[in-house]
Amino acid sequence: MSTVADGKGLEGVVAATSGICWIDGEAGILSYRGIDIHDLAEHSTFEETTYLLWNGELPNELALREFQTQLSLARGLDFRIVDMLRSIPASATPMEVLRTAVSALSFYDADEKDNSHEANVRKCFHLTAQMAMIVAIYDRLRKGLEIVPPDRSLNHAANFLWMLNGIKPSETAVKTMDMALVLHAEHELNASTFAARVIAATLSDVHSAVTGAIGALKGPLHGGANEGVMRMLYDIDRTGADPVEYVKSMLAARQKISGFGHRVYKTEDPRATHLRKMSEALGEDAGQTKWYKMSRAIELYINADKKLNANVDFYSASTYATLGIDVDLYTPIFALSRIAGWAAHIIEQLDDNRLIRPRAEYVGPPYPAVYVPMDARG
Ligand SMILES: CC(C)(COP(=O)(O)OP(=O)(O)OC[C@H]1O[C@@H](n2cnc3c(N)ncnc32)[C@H](O)[C@@H]1OP(=O)(O)O)[C@@H](O)C(=O)NCCC(=O)NCCS
Repeated sequence: MSTVADGKGLEGVVAATSGICWIDGEAGILSYRGIDIHDLAEHSTFEETTYLLWNGELPNELALREFQTQLSLARGLDFRIVDMLRSIPASATPMEVLRTAVSALSFYDADEKDNSHEANVRKCFHLTAQMAMIVAIYDRLRKGLEIVPPDRSLNHAANFLWMLNGIKPSETAVKTMDMALVLHAEHELNASTFAARVIAATLSDVHSAVTGAIGALKGPLHGGANEGVMRMLYDIDRTGADPVEYVKSMLAARQKISGFGHRVYKTEDPRATHLRKMSEALGEDAGQTKWYKMSRAIELYINADKKLNANVDFYSASTYATLGIDVDLYTPIFALSRIAGWAAHIIEQLDDNRLIRPRAEYVGPPYPAVYVPMDARG
């Protein structure tokens, strides 16, 4: 057994075997169950992609219909969860609310303590449907608006937008949201998925694993980066700064630019390729190209100067802004897509479980250090 940490932050360490996601960071390839993300982005839907992640293969027509029905039937929240959402302090962010509400959902899930494969799949259906509802309902409550009941005839992306805005979303908005959900659904052993697997492996439960994953996703080095990007774009817009000069001064102050860099990709993140196109097309459609143009100017500069590429979070920011979504909902939207991948990993972990318990390379005082009695300490 190696007793030396291979790299800070477990860089390059292979920590599990998994049949869910394959990435080639040098070539910029991402695949779910072997299927290239470009094919999924262009042809699949969130429901079909989630089926693929959970079952290991694409569904036939009947299986997909059943899956869609099961997901839409899972659109229900215990009234006590809604009551809890009503009493959350105004200072809470939607991501904190989602984290806490997901934890509380376990109280009302009959399968909470059952870690069988079948019960885990049922819980994952519930969580996938409920997380989207929680984000939409909380946003309406905090704005003093009526809750919009779910519409079971709509797909996941459309129902989320419907419950969020209370108006039937346009075809473009649904297609954009659906594609964003496909692109964010899974990404191997990223920090939140690793956290989920570690928690699941203790034989805790699905809700605890997803709660921990949401906590990990929230950080600005992970899913929180999409909000960081938009706050930067808003600040540039508000102050009238030149976007390139703005990021130059951030870099001079040794600040990181949200939405750039990646632990695994050494070339363009293939998800960013689609989000860039979406951001540009949506902006043109809406007659509001400033976020895309600002983003593109920053990207070209950072590419050239720092040799860093945009990641999934960079163009998702301007895409969501053009859809009229509030900035503090961006990371919760990431979560309500990534639940698909977390669920696949939790189920895979529990289907063939062993506790995840690595070692640390000890760099503290040498053993044996002397226990000095209190009256003899300086
Ligand atoms: C994603 C991220 C956490 C990966 O971290 P990592 O693999 O530990 O890489 P490091 O932070 O060690 O970065 C390596 C070098 O690139 C620089 N770098 C990486 N990302 C950078 C960024 N976004 N802006 C400026 N410099 C960056 C680091 O400062 C470091 O430079 P140095 O060697 O001169 O100190 C990192 O790129 C980052 O913080 N990005 C911004 C947050 C973000 O977008 N997160 C979402 C990821 S999908």
